[in-house]
Amino acid sequence: MIIDKVFSMKYIYTTLTMLCVLTANAQRKPIESRVDSVLTLMSLEEKVGQMNQYNGFWNATGPAPAGGDAATKYQHLRNGWVGSVLNVQGVEEVRAMQRVAVEETRLGIPLIFACDVIHGYKTLSPIPLAEAASWNLDAIEKSARNAAEEATAHGLNWTFAPMVDISRDPRWGRMMEGAGEDTYLGARVASARVQGFQGSDLSAPNTMAACAKHFAGYGFVEAGRDYNTVDVSAYTLQNVIFPPFQAAVEAGAATFMNAFNTMNGIPATGNQALIETLKETWGFQGVLVSDWGSISEMQAHGFSRNLSEATAQAANARCDIDMESLAYVYHLADLVRKGVVAQARVDDAVRRVLRLKFQLGLMDDPYKYCQNPGEWTPSSSPWAEDAQNLAEESAVLLKNKGILPIVKGQRIALIGPMAAEKNSPLGNWRVSSEDHTAISLQEGLRSVKGFKSLDVAAGPVFLTGAINFPTEASINTSDTAGLFQAVRSASAADVAILAVGEHGFQSGEGRSRLSLHLPGLQELLIREVLKVQPHVVLVVYAGRPFILPEDIQAQVEGILFAWQPGTMGGPAIANLLMGRRSPSGRLPVTFPRSEAQIPLYYGAYNTGRPGPISEVFWSHYGDGPNTPQYPFGYGLTYSTVSYSKTELVTLEDGTLALNATVSNTGKVEVDEVVQVYMRDHHSAYGVRPLKQLIDFRRIAIKAGETKSFTFILEMDQLSVTDAQGEKHVEPGIFSFWIAPNSVEGVPATMDWKIE
Ligand code: BGC
Repeated sequence: MIIDKVFSMKYIYTTLTMLCVLTANAQRKPIESRVDSVLTLMSLEEKVGQMNQYNGFWNATGPAPAGGDAATKYQHLRNGWVGSVLNVQGVEEVRAMQRVAVEETRLGIPLIFACDVIHGYKTLSPIPLAEAASWNLDAIEKSARNAAEEATAHGLNWTFAPMVDISRDPRWGRMMEGAGEDTYLGARVASARVQGFQGSDLSAPNTMAACAKHFAGYGFVEAGRDYNTVDVSAYTLQNVIFPPFQAAVEAGAATFMNAFNTMNGIPATGNQALIETLKETWGFQGVLVSDWGSISEMQAHGFSRNLSEATAQAANARCDIDMESLAYVYHLADLVRKGVVAQARVDDAVRRVLRLKFQLGLMDDPYKYCQNPGEWTPSSSPWAEDAQNLAEESAVLLKNKGILPIVKGQRIALIGPMAAEKNSPLGNWRVSSEDHTAISLQEGLRSVKGFKSLDVAAGPVFLTGAINFPTEASINTSDTAGLFQAVRSASAADVAILAVGEHGFQSGEGRSRLSLHLPGLQELLIREVLKVQPHVVLVVYAGRPFILPEDIQAQVEGILFAWQPGTMGGPAIANLLMGRRSPSGRLPVTFPRSEAQIPLYYGAYNTGRPGPISEVFWSHYGDGPNTPQYPFGYGLTYSTVSYSKTELVTLEDGTLALNATVSNTGKVEVDEVVQVYMRDHHSAYGVRPLKQLIDFRRIAIKAGETKSFTFILEMDQLSVTDAQGEKHVEPGIFSFWIAPNSVEGVPATMDWKIE
C-alpha cells in the first residue's frame, strides 16, 4: 500500500535516531534501557497508539464498535496509532500489516499479532474443560506448546489464553474454556498452560505470550447468563477466584485481560482496587489488555457517562491496552493534556507494551514469527497424535454395565446427530481452524475396526439452520423424519452406539443455556431406540455437564462423555469404545441432576444445618436430592481399582505425610487419577469447604499391581486466605482423603496442636 508521507527534516532525523536506537538495542542492552530509549522518541499520540489494539477484520470475535471502518484503521496504523492487532493471521497477511507498521510509520515500531488460540490453532485438541478432565498436566502443557508452535508459524505471537476463570455454573457457555469448578486444579492447569504457550524463552520463534483472563470473576456471572452481573464476596474472590490468576503470574504470564463484569459494583476494566491487587500486591509487570469493547461497555454498565469518561476510568485504573473500544485512540491524549490522566500512567502502560515487544524479539526482527507453516491437514499434522492422546485421556466413562469395551465381531448401529459429525467436535473457540476438519466417530470406528458391521443413521435432523461462530443455534424440536430408520438400524444390530450431545457451537461465549438436557429430539431418539435395543451406549459430546432423565439414565448400559474432543476425536473415542485403551478422564466439574441445583459443586461449605434430620429444618430440597448425578473427580475405567485407608504419618524429618495403597484388581492396565482431599474442620478466618482438593497424581497401574503413594503435606496446603488476602495456617482438626473422586475414600483425621 502506497502512502503519502511528508519527509520533513524532523522525520528523517527521528527515523535515523530510531535506527540508531534499534541498532544499539540489537547489541543487547538490558531491555529496560532499550524501552526507555524508544520511549523518549515518542510523541503523546504515538504512546497512546501503543495502547490501542484493533481487530483485523470485522465481527470476528465480538460486535463492531461504531466508527472503526477498515480505511480509518489503516490510516491510524500509518499514523503510528496502533500497537497491536487481533485476528490478523496467516504469514502473508501478517507480513503485509507488519510492513506498514515498520516501514510507513514514523518510528517503525512493530505490531504484536494476537488471536484466541484456545485449544489449538488448526489442529485442535479437546476443548480446555476436556483437557482439564485428563488431569494430565504434562499433556496439557504440551497441548499449549503445540498450539503455540502451529500459531507462531502463521505469524501470531500473542494468544488470549488461558482462560483461568473458575466456574460452578454449567449454564454459562464459557465453562468450556476453563478448567472447571476447582481452584486447585484450575491453578495447576493455568500454570501448565502458561508454561506451554510461553516456553522458557518468549523470544523463540515458536513461543507466544500467554494471557490469563478474565480478571476477575467472570465465571460467576449470575444465573449463568453470559456478560451478566457478578456479585461475590471478598472471601470467595481470595480463596476461589484469585488463586489460578496468582498461579498464572507466578508462571510468568506475559499478559492479563480484564473481565467484562463488575466486581463490587465497579466494572473490572475500570476497577482500581482489583487491578491494584494484580499490579501491586502480586507485582505483575506485564500488559493488561481490556476485553473486546469492555472500556466502552462501562457506559452500558452505568459506570461511565460517556466514552471519554470511560477512557479516563480505564486508564487511571491501569488498563494498558484498549481492545476495540476506540476509546484510547480518540480520547486519551486529550485527557492527558487536561491532566485527567497522568502522563506517568501512559508511560507506564507504554513501557509494558514495549517491554513485551522486546521480550518477543519483535524489535529486533518484526517478521520472526512468519515461519513456513508447513503443508498438512489438521489430522496429519505433527500435533495430531498429541491431540488424539488428549482426546483419549479426557473422555470420562460415566456408566458401564459390562457393555464396554464393545465385544469384537458384533453388528454395531451407530446412531445420532454426532455419529458422522465433522464440525461440532471442533468446539466453538477455533477462529483459525477450518470447518469440518474433525475426524468423525464413524470414520474413527472404521479405521479402528473390530466389528462385524457398522450401520450409520443420523436420526432426526438436529439443526434447522446454518451454524457458525456468531450465530445462534436453531434446533429441530418437531420434525421426526429419520427416527424410524434409526430405530430400524438399532433393532437389526447387536449393540447401538448413540452419538448425541450439544453442538460445538452451543457452548462458548454468548452461549448460555437454560437447559442442560440433550437438545432437540435426542431424548426421544434414545427412548425409541431403547424400546427395540437393550444394549445401548451413549457417547455424549458437550462443552458442559449434561442432564439425563432418570429413565434413560437407568436403561442405557454405558455412557462415555467425550466433550468436544477436537480434530482427532473420532479415532480417540473409537479406540476407547473398542477397548484399545481404557478411559481415564475424571470430571473437573460436578454434574447436577437438575438445573435447579445449580450452583452445585463439591467444595461447598457445611452450612449451619447440614442435616439430614426428620423435620424440614435442614438445608435441602423437599422435592429432590442435594446430591449430584456425578461428582467432581469421578470417572470409571475398564478395570476395578481399590484404595486402602488413608494414613497420616510423621516422617523422620518431622514433616507430615499421607500414605495409601492403590490396587488394580481388574484385568487391564489403567491410568488412575489419585486425588488428595482435605477438610479443615474449624477456621476462625473463614469457614472451609467440606472437601478441598490439595494434590493429585495421574499414574499407570498394571492389572494386578498395587502401588503405594506418599503425599507430603505442605503448610501452604493447610492455609486459608482471609477476605483481605492474608494467608493463615491455624492449628485444629484436619481430615485427609486419598481417594478416586470427591465422594469416596476413608479419611485420616488429626487434631493438630501447637505446643
Ligand atoms: C472474549 C475474550 C477474547 C476476546 C478477543 C472477547 O469477546 O471475551 O475472551 O479473548 O473477545 O477475541
